[in-house]
Amino acid sequence: MSKKYDLIVIGGGPGGYVSAIRGAQEGMSVALVDKGGLGGTCLNRGCIPTKFILHVANLYREFSHSESLGITADNISYDIGKIHLKKEGIVAKLRDGVGGLLNANNIDVFDGLGKVIAPGKVGVSTESEIFELEGEKILLAVGAYPIIPPIPGVDLPGVITSNALLEGEPQDIKSLVIIGGGVIGVEMASIYADLGAKVTVIEAAGRLLPLLDSEIGQSLAMSLKARGAAVYTSATVKEIVKSDDGLQVNFEGKDGDKSVVSDKVLLAIGRRPNIEHVIGEGLDIKTDRGIIVNDKFETSVPGIYAVGDCVSGATQLAHVAHAQATNAVCMMAGKAPEMDLSLVPNCIYTEPEIATVGLSPDAAKKLGIEVKTSKYLMSGHGKTMLEGHGRGFVKLVFDAETEFIVGAQLMCGRATDIVGEIATAIRAKYTAAELSSIIRPHPSFSEGITEAVENLHGKAVHVAPAKARK
Ligand code: NAI
Repeated sequence: MSKKYDLIVIGGGPGGYVSAIRGAQEGMSVALVDKGGLGGTCLNRGCIPTKFILHVANLYREFSHSESLGITADNISYDIGKIHLKKEGIVAKLRDGVGGLLNANNIDVFDGLGKVIAPGKVGVSTESEIFELEGEKILLAVGAYPIIPPIPGVDLPGVITSNALLEGEPQDIKSLVIIGGGVIGVEMASIYADLGAKVTVIEAAGRLLPLLDSEIGQSLAMSLKARGAAVYTSATVKEIVKSDDGLQVNFEGKDGDKSVVSDKVLLAIGRRPNIEHVIGEGLDIKTDRGIIVNDKFETSVPGIYAVGDCVSGATQLAHVAHAQATNAVCMMAGKAPEMDLSLVPNCIYTEPEIATVGLSPDAAKKLGIEVKTSKYLMSGHGKTMLEGHGRGFVKLVFDAETEFIVGAQLMCGRATDIVGEIATAIRAKYTAAELSSIIRPHPSFSEGITEAVENLHGKAVHVAPAKARK
């Protein structure tokens, strides 16, 4: 291989393929090395397959309860094999789309394992050969993989990670214990509860989604319980053992020792940067659980960069990797970064959806920022009722003095779409009055923003005045 590239990217997920395309747009000659499928975790075993199965689970739930809507749908059932086949078709189409875009940008794609062996040098092992590529700059976007906790029994057949649920053979799950009530845990709990499985979530912290505003975790636990799931918080798993009826998970809950038996146990306690096999011996790239980078996404070795889930302390989200990739390449090209990385919408695709952006009241308190909040309960909202979303809320956080909008926590239909409006408003430094002045369509979930912001000064039309609420 004699060609020398301007940029070699290792990893073909949202961090990697976006870096490669952005590099090509900047006039760089680019190579991309990927093993495991273009599109990375997000496309092959993360966001996209999860959201497809979630879509199916939502339909299944709605048809299962359609009698009250006037629709008779007898003998509702699902075929997990066909669901997976359809999902694989969608994933393959999107993967081909990524390949097509790389090709259209004249990027050389190598299907193999990449390893940085020296500054400017990447080793590639494909199924048939091993060779080296040379590049002026190298960017690592190698992602992360599920953490396996040191719990006795995690190696038993039937103990799985989200990879097996989303990428492996179809798994027809009738009962599922989920260890970890973080993002993956609650999305899978919502999906399998809707598909009629007996779901149990065991979370070590005091509430589900412990990193988000406390009201979200508590409301979600109630919503999951209403759909038949069991939720244990402040619980420590001691062991998983094989029993006659399946896998028995023994754990210590708030009320003492407990056990629950299920077909499968899902480990969802976080993901670890995938860096073990990508950094050559003797290369002094500093790591601290992930690759340490500076504000230009450059590692401790000049000319070697990293973005996405493999970065130390990363917010492990596809859209963050995409934004980091954009900025890293802008700066490589000597330009100012385009993306504002300080404002990251966080979306959780449960039923109802959850989305947050900016500061929560808890986070503001920790930072010593004085805020005031305003909330609207969506249970009285027309579209929420007609679509059967049940409990939910829109909570807005304002700077106490200036009334600039500084954050939002949403739990409602289409929360993951309407959070974009709040992100824009925070970025544009809208005051409560400016946010309130915007006409929002009726009926739509974004009406919750209008009601919540009007409620800041007791002016929400669809909220009874405090004195009348007794
Ligand atoms: P996570 O960090 O979100 O949650 C892990 C949970 O497991 C925490 O609540 C933690 O307290 C708990 N835990 C840790 N050890 C435990 C133990 N031994 N027993 C019981 N509970 C334990 O990690 P998760 O859910 O695996 O997700 C990984 C990453 O993937 C996250 O950074 C997430 O942001 C990302 N992701 C994002 C999605 C989205 O944006 N919609 C969807 C899926 C994943």
